[in-house]
Amino acid sequence: MGINIPQHIAIIMDGNRRWALERGLPALEGHRRVTDKILEPLIEHAAKRGVKFITFWAWSTENWKRDKHEVEGIMRLFKGTLRSRGNRLHEKGVQVRIIGDISKFDAQLRTLLTDLVEKTKHNTKITVIFALNYGGRDEIVRAMVKYFNAPQPPLKIRGGKGGVTEREFEQYLDTSGIPDPELIIRTGGEQRLSGFLLWQSEYSEL
Ligand code: FPP
Repeated sequence: MGINIPQHIAIIMDGNRRWALERGLPALEGHRRVTDKILEPLIEHAAKRGVKFITFWAWSTENWKRDKHEVEGIMRLFKGTLRSRGNRLHEKGVQVRIIGDISKFDAQLRTLLTDLVEKTKHNTKITVIFALNYGGRDEIVRAMVKYFNAPQPPLKIRGGKGGVTEREFEQYLDTSGIPDPELIIRTGGEQRLSGFLLWQSEYSEL
């Protein structure tokens, strides 16, 4: 009997520090293990099985509160990963998209991200979505601001009959055009979403 392959799987990537601590390693080793050994094989495996979208929550709006050393280490890891694996992902037909507010990252990281998104935009094998400086409430507030700043079509201020619909509003979310995830995985084991894809997770299995 065949199994249903989800079109979109979204992953909250936590438990990395605990993994490292249990082995007496520095916290950053947990994150490095993800980028060095897990990310690419997982993307390839998902593509092979017919998954069309895979989202990784790599940085939340709350993560800036971590200690400076860890924040700097993870920023270096993001840059290193994009430099060493960006082209390979492109060659494998991966389309990269970003959700979240990347304006808070430094110029170097922003350029690496926007270049990779631009370069891969016509790829069709699988779409990999990195959630960076992402928070679900933050996304909805930013969508509201975009909605009110949109030049056209004429804005419908009220909800209800004749007013703005859910389908219209969600085009202003970062995930516009991406189907809602059927499956959300939290690797650290907690059973809460912490605002991950707050709008999009309405029917997701956890
Ligand atoms: C969350 O919990 C994890 C992070 C804040 C960082 C995750 C980032 C990466 C693995 C790098 C991914 C790189 C790219 C390019 C997408 P935790 O595991 O630090 O904490 P916990 O053990 O305390 O739950």
